[in-house]
Amino acid sequence: MSDRPAIVRTVAALRRQVAAWRAAGERVAMVPTMGALHEGHLSLVRLGLTRADHVVASIFVNPAQFAPHEDFDAYPRGEGRDAQLLGEAGCALIFAPDVAVMYPDGFSTRVLVDGVSGPLEGEKRPQFFGGVATVVAKLLNQCGPDVALFGEKDYQQLLVIRRMARDLDLPVEIIGGPTVREADGLAMSSRNAYLSADERAVAAVLPAVMAEAVEALRDGAPAANVEPAAIERLAAAGFGPIDYVQAHDGETMERLGPGPVGPGARVFVAAWLGKTRLIDNWAV
Ligand code: PAF
Repeated sequence: MSDRPAIVRTVAALRRQVAAWRAAGERVAMVPTMGALHEGHLSLVRLGLTRADHVVASIFVNPAQFAPHEDFDAYPRGEGRDAQLLGEAGCALIFAPDVAVMYPDGFSTRVLVDGVSGPLEGEKRPQFFGGVATVVAKLLNQCGPDVALFGEKDYQQLLVIRRMARDLDLPVEIIGGPTVREADGLAMSSRNAYLSADERAVAAVLPAVMAEAVEALRDGAPAANVEPAAIERLAAAGFGPIDYVQAHDGETMERLGPGPVGPGARVFVAAWLGKTRLIDNWAV
């Protein structure tokens, strides 16, 4: 399918279409996005089509998950291109609300998830997970999909959303899709567009360093040795500041201790290259 999907901007129009599909006995998948789409998002649309008859993608650059000093204004936007790509991937409907639809005057609710949102991004971007959990709770409630798909590139976000959906009894299955990478291993991200050509070349060091860290952890080296070695290599390549390289349990997000890491461990990285913050994670 390559037709551009219809775009709806109100909750009523979204619900009308989803209700019509449901009346016909059809299943619905949702892929929430902030636009500036890449192959990672499109792979989620295609995965959604293996689990449902129709995929709804949302495009909403969510101001609630950006701190005032972050890149909300600069965040790449391009609805026409996004709609074209979504149509080619088989998406049936785009929900692209304005900020006033999502957060009308008087909006005063925030969804906060304890536990898994604590470390890493929770420490470095204290407003982030509250903004994400709030908007995703709203999107899932507005659309009412059977399944919703999120990329494992934002692995901690995936855990936060899973926890939130479980805790709020949302009748939706949360599915994680594998990280899609460029040929040199760099995880696809809308923010990669910020990188200059020189920075893009240096960015390839990040997956290489992390692959070595994973290898060392698999061989039984303690996280307490592997983490600083990876930080040192990233700094030598020109990254800085390096927010973290840390091994955590892939379900509880508990920080892994000084001994060898066990099954289910993941190693997480966030590092700046110029004005671009890159994040990624790997299963150990
Ligand atoms: O991962 C993203 O693009 C966003 O955080 C999400 C899940 C669409 C919420 O705004």
